[in-house]
Amino acid sequence: RLPEPFKVPLHIPRVLDPVSTGPDGDRYEVVETSREVEIIPGTRTTVWGYEGTFPGPTLHTRSGRGAVVRVANDLTVPTSTHLHGGLTPPDSDGYPTDVVVPSGYEPHNHSGHEEMAPPETWTYHDRAKDYKYPLRQPAATLWYHDHRMDFSAPQVYRGLAGFLLVHDDEEDSLPLPKDERDIPLMICDRAFEESGEFRYPALDPTLQRVPGVERAYMQGVQGDVTLVNGKPWPSLEVSATKYRFRILNASNARRYRLALNPGPRDGASFIQVGSDVGLLGRPINHETLTVTPAERFDVVVDFAKYPVGTRITLVNELESGAMHNVMQFHVVRQERDESRVPDKLANFTKLAEADAENTRRFDFRNYLESGGHKWTINGRTFTTTYVEAKPRLGSVERWRFTSDFHHPVHLHLAHFQVVSRNGRQPGPMDAGWKDTVDVRPFETVDVLARFDGFRGRYMMHCHNLEHEDMAMMANFDVV
Ligand code: C2O
Ligand code: CU
Repeated sequence: RLPEPFKVPLHIPRVLDPVSTGPDGDRYEVVETSREVEIIPGTRTTVWGYEGTFPGPTLHTRSGRGAVVRVANDLTVPTSTHLHGGLTPPDSDGYPTDVVVPSGYEPHNHSGHEEMAPPETWTYHDRAKDYKYPLRQPAATLWYHDHRMDFSAPQVYRGLAGFLLVHDDEEDSLPLPKDERDIPLMICDRAFEESGEFRYPALDPTLQRVPGVERAYMQGVQGDVTLVNGKPWPSLEVSATKYRFRILNASNARRYRLALNPGPRDGASFIQVGSDVGLLGRPINHETLTVTPAERFDVVVDFAKYPVGTRITLVNELESGAMHNVMQFHVVRQERDESRVPDKLANFTKLAEADAENTRRFDFRNYLESGGHKWTINGRTFTTTYVEAKPRLGSVERWRFTSDFHHPVHLHLAHFQVVSRNGRQPGPMDAGWKDTVDVRPFETVDVLARFDGFRGRYMMHCHNLEHEDMAMMANFDVV
């Protein structure tokens, strides 16, 4: 019943053009709507997508130019759109209770969640909202996705995710692969009903009132089909040249250790040029990439290392069987290649540990209670009012994350550098400017975070989306 791998061509999400460009930046309009699409050949799947597509359209923006994105909600549920990795003012950051509601929506309490976010404390926008993104940040692979309180996981699962790329002059000046050889890859896993509909174990499949998943899924929902850009185990024909792939793990809960099979003889399968929120100072060669939910790896793969005719499978070494496969590349022709990966990429400023004004610690913990798992940060689940930290605008702080499970820890607004993992120097997977870090069971990870741009209320949370919906989130106020 599962689709045969490598039969469907890779889909490249369409590029969304601005509806107008002016002195205050570019204006985009996006409608969240549901549509039936063919994901598993021969069946129909109802997706909830930006512009009705999954992934949503890709926005190409310019650093410092600013973009206003009008998101209109044509669905049956509230939504909140977060630009992940964006240096965004708080009222456009997609705070979970700052929602766009469909017409005629009646605010109500979620059962069992009254104390967390009573409806009168929410901000409601009727049918649409203008999100303002100043984008005073360097070239990077950002993504946008739904962030509705208690329901982010099922709403992203139904398709509410897309790419927003920031470009700048520094990136333009580099001879990296461009245009049709610069491809975003959104990797995620999904399960399907026999009918072709997504199978998500929500307690309330209408996603109207009761949040949460069936008890067996409280650690996170995983599927048995791998999608890349919304297609199952797709295949891409490539020339024997270099390609730039912007890899995003958009899975709710699955981690990947990506490798090429066969790998190139020199072991440099992936030449990393960028991390979550910017280009690296220098490229890093990786044989494998460990990618936790929400992380991005901006890499170059050189298919000139393979003879024409080779089929190369991108695999997830953490799985066997069907889920070992991710997608396939088929080298079909020779072509001229003027691109290269220079030894020096961007101007990269390494933060110094001495710059940290403050040190704080955040313990990500699971408690098993009678009702099931409870996911906490410093012993608490999220409320809209409790503020866990108040970093000063413009400061750098050292934040320590400890865990008892796999938790992809994500900070809104603040970009950070990993400075230690279990007291040791971080490895090559932790390089560069990041907004999400893979905190593994019983690890202690220290980051230096820079609180730049805006004052106001932001959040940190676990990006395992089921943990997030179970309120493994905390506020911090930039003051
Ligand atoms: Cu990608 Cu708060 O999330
Ligand atoms: Cu978690």
